[in-house]
Amino acid sequence: MAGVRLFGTMGAEASFREEDFFGREEELSALTRAAADGGRGIGSSFMIYGPPNIGKTSLLLKLAHDLRSSPETGGIPRPFPFYFSFSQILSHPLALSQHFIQEFLWQLLRFLGDGQPSPFDPEGMCDQLSVHGFTGCREILAAHAKYTAAGDGLSALVNALSFPFAAGGELFYPVFLFDDFQYTGKLQGVTDGAMLSILRPYIKSGHYPMFLSGSSPGRVTASLKREGLFGTFQMLEIGGLSQESSLRLWQYLCERRRLEIPASLLPRASKRLGGIPVYQRMLVEEIFFRNARVTDVVGLENLYALSVTEGKLNRYWREFFENTFPERARRGRAIRFLKRVLCDRFPLDTVEGALSLMGASQEEGEAVLSAFEFKGLMKSDLEQLAFIGDPVLADFLFWAFERGVLGKGGSQVAASIVQARLSHVEPESGQDAGHARRVAVVKELMRKWDLREVPLLLLDFGKFREKFGGKGLLEVVIGMEGEQVRVRLPKISSVSTGYRTHRGGPRFDFDLVAYGFLEGDFSEENLVIWAVDVVPEKNLAARAVEHFENRCRLLALEKRLPADRLRKWMLLDETADPAAVDLAAQYGVHLSHPTQVRLFLNLFGLEELEREPEAPRPSFTGAPRGEKPLEYELVLPMKADSEMVAARVAEEVAAFASVDSDTVDRIKMAIIEACINAFEHSASESGKVRLRYLLSPEKIELYVQDDGKGFGAGKTPEESKKNRGWGLKLIRELVDDVEIVTGPDGTVVRMVKFLDAGQPGPARKGEGAPDAPGADG
Ligand SMILES: Nc1ncnc2c1ncn2[C@@H]1O[C@H](COP(=O)(O)OP(=O)(O)O)[C@@H](O)[C@H]1O
Ligand SMILES: [Mg+2]
Repeated sequence: MAGVRLFGTMGAEASFREEDFFGREEELSALTRAAADGGRGIGSSFMIYGPPNIGKTSLLLKLAHDLRSSPETGGIPRPFPFYFSFSQILSHPLALSQHFIQEFLWQLLRFLGDGQPSPFDPEGMCDQLSVHGFTGCREILAAHAKYTAAGDGLSALVNALSFPFAAGGELFYPVFLFDDFQYTGKLQGVTDGAMLSILRPYIKSGHYPMFLSGSSPGRVTASLKREGLFGTFQMLEIGGLSQESSLRLWQYLCERRRLEIPASLLPRASKRLGGIPVYQRMLVEEIFFRNARVTDVVGLENLYALSVTEGKLNRYWREFFENTFPERARRGRAIRFLKRVLCDRFPLDTVEGALSLMGASQEEGEAVLSAFEFKGLMKSDLEQLAFIGDPVLADFLFWAFERGVLGKGGSQVAASIVQARLSHVEPESGQDAGHARRVAVVKELMRKWDLREVPLLLLDFGKFREKFGGKGLLEVVIGMEGEQVRVRLPKISSVSTGYRTHRGGPRFDFDLVAYGFLEGDFSEENLVIWAVDVVPEKNLAARAVEHFENRCRLLALEKRLPADRLRKWMLLDETADPAAVDLAAQYGVHLSHPTQVRLFLNLFGLEELEREPEAPRPSFTGAPRGEKPLEYELVLPMKADSEMVAARVAEEVAAFASVDSDTVDRIKMAIIEACINAFEHSASESGKVRLRYLLSPEKIELYVQDDGKGFGAGKTPEESKKNRGWGLKLIRELVDDVEIVTGPDGTVVRMVKFLDAGQPGPARKGEGAPDAPGADG
């Protein structure tokens, strides 16, 4: 047995520093109470569980520390906390037994005040103990030697583990703190629940406070149930620290590193890290070693994103996955699977569902799940799965997925993490401030309208772009003067932000709602309402137009306005999808580009409110309208990582259509799913998949075709469907339309993503019967 290992547990104890420990008051008081009951012969059992590095060991060591330093209460025996971790060792039961005995003797002697017992000399320690009046120690050692000689691991374990229960008496009573208990299920040549069987009589006796701790309650509780012990245990789940404790920990860590983080940012920082102390420690170290200064939210979010994409938080989880899944392909699967569950919140709570979502063989899938469980990322109870919600892990998985699967660069991922995080916050970022300013400008403008007539072109982006796209400002100004088609603007009586129909009623959130009158007199029949949205996104999507139109309709209904008395106006930030422009025209929604707004302001002498004029360059890309769709074809061998090539091509194709990044990702994921499905389930002889990408202005169509056996063949139809089921379910969530044609000659999966993203708008109607090529059913 290696000497170093002997110091494992003792090392853990020695390395615990009380001043480093924060919070957990409730847990400590429950456990302290239970430990105290042991003095009266009442034994309570706790099962403490939680993900790795959440602080289980720290909690046990803190408890041990508190118990040891609890005041003497004359005459009554004192609690002797015996801390033992099963993780250090030693999957061999003989080695474990030896270690267990030595550890117990050593800790007991320390407890009794015997300076420095020699951990490698069990006989010596026995002699020391007999000075304190403890006998029977030599017999235990002799029995251990005998079982060792016979190679009888199980008997050795029984012998060793029973030992502490016989100790105790007038002076003290043992309190058992058994850490990393899940490792007891991994002993060589000993069945899974053996350890609990050995402990069973002591637990059942109800005399010994017994706290088991570990990261996979599922396995342990299953053993507990088998032993009929489940009801005896109280379950104690360990999660993040309370907000208050977490704040104290920040303060402590910052002081030690002489860092200053504004106090106002700390609650946010705690939340970001889920109150998990080890993350707090790492982030502080990150700031310290980078010599960074964190002064505001953006700085904090950037630093966090940096850490989780390339710094300490990243390394922490990367190493975790590398150790847990040394084999690259399996690691990839595990990460991809977990990403879907934690980031995409794929609804999943059965082993069966998990296995098919993973798309691996049954055996591999089970191995992955079992590793998750062993490491505490997942717990299973009666076949019900639950995954941990750890915000840092989720961001790490997002990074790993984007990097590994979608091939994005680190800084790009970091930027999107920051973006995602910041978009949940109050107006603080530049974008929101810019938006508020633009709203204020438009409000000012509307107040000045006063029945004037202006060129309609100012409100019609489509026509304006047709006429002036690419022209200089001067040309535009001159051109506008000749504009014949004009529109009469109302006299505005009030402009407000948002609109509520009545107290407590629904609120229609427009950036502006203006009441105006088409003639000088403010009568009902002259009333006109302008609903205005100032688009915050650089690129207006059709989805946003649809959403705007819906709100307008509700408003018109509420106010019982005739259609022509509600004017709808959206102000672009930079540009708009072609589909959005079309949809706006169809709904009669006015659209104005910043250039048009500038001209508008100019007309009313308000131009100084706006920024520097610049040449109008309403930019448009995308597949030419009205032309035949662009078509791409690709034949891929069915082998690992081929699907990445498919995804890459999808990305390039999507780039032609200047599709937003979210849509691109969805398309990529869908095609990856479809490819994997074909690779794994088609049993194709040619071993090839044929892909077609069809790009038209309104949609992207993807065909994934294999010449395999189709869904029905080989296995039972149920089995076959089940296996493909999850992949297909995911695909359905990712794209707008999925169609499958399958038969003995193969399978074609057709996926459609409408470029106006998922709205049941007119673009989707008329998408009639499928024209799936190739194999038919
Ligand atoms: N209550 C706490 N206060 C401060 N730091 C803690 C606390 N709990 C855990 N930590 C930190 O987290 C690290 C991991 O905790 P640990 O107890 O080893 O987790 P587990 O046993 O659950 O895997 C510790 O080394 C310590 O730095
Ligand atoms: Mg631990």
